[in-house]
Amino acid sequence: MVIVLLGPPGSGKGTQAERLNDNLGFYKVSMGDLFREAIKKEDSIGKEAKEQLAKGKLVQDATVIEMVRRELRKGKSRKNYVFDGFPRNINQAIAFDSLLKEENREIDAVFYFNIPFEKLVNRLTRRRICPRCGAVYNLETAPPIEQNTCDRCNTLLVRREDDIEEVIKSRFQVYTDETVPVKGYYQKRHLVITVNSGTSEERVWQNVKEYIERKLHEHRTKKGGNEKQEY
Ligand code: AP5
Ligand code: MG
Repeated sequence: MVIVLLGPPGSGKGTQAERLNDNLGFYKVSMGDLFREAIKKEDSIGKEAKEQLAKGKLVQDATVIEMVRRELRKGKSRKNYVFDGFPRNINQAIAFDSLLKEENREIDAVFYFNIPFEKLVNRLTRRRICPRCGAVYNLETAPPIEQNTCDRCNTLLVRREDDIEEVIKSRFQVYTDETVPVKGYYQKRHLVITVNSGTSEERVWQNVKEYIERKLHEHRTKKGGNEKQEY
């Protein structure tokens, strides 16, 4: 099963991808996280991506597509993938179709995380991450137990470098110009499931999980079923 999470910055893609990984064993491909790791390692991808992330612009397609090819290979032993933050433009969406075809796979569903714009800035400015293990917190909705300290590894939490007002603006612009058309691309194929992601983390998860468990059951019983719903 291949799931794509689509939505604006701060809509909860990473949070739900993590849950799919932890609870249902999905192989998680979170593009932003992969770039942040590469930047930390200062490898060739990191060097290329650093400037683009700092500006809130997209890394070039050829690099992104190559990384996805690699991830598809890495996740092969798992049956299910979740893609968070890919594809982000039409060119990537077309390339993704070819990559999946090579692997005899196809997209099962694209969850579109719908949320009012006003909530997003709030979430992004209150987000804190652990620079060591990558855990994500929110000072308002998902605070750490001990102030500013990671629950998992005790490291001091930081703000993501692109969570500053000027870069947030640029990320939204890129999303509107380049990623919104991707939603249309998948809508034509009846793959899009709209989820209200302006509700609590748990509620969003219950909706995503309910759909996926049903789909997994259909896969097992090979019934198919192509109906799309809103949650
Ligand atoms: P990326 O890291 O993917 O950033 P993004 O798309 O801007 O999305 P975010 O990670 O900011 O938000 P999210 O939706 O994951 O929300 P989260 O779950 O953290 O990409 C970064 C950069 O990498 C890009 O700008 C680009 O440069 C590059 N890049 C990535 N992919 C690329 C591609 N395909 N091509 C080219 N370049 C690419 O949640 C946000 C906050 O809200 C958290 O604090 C969380 O705790 C909280 N929260 C989550 N859900 C809820 C809820 N339901 N209720 C309340 N709070 C919640
Ligand atoms: Mg994210």
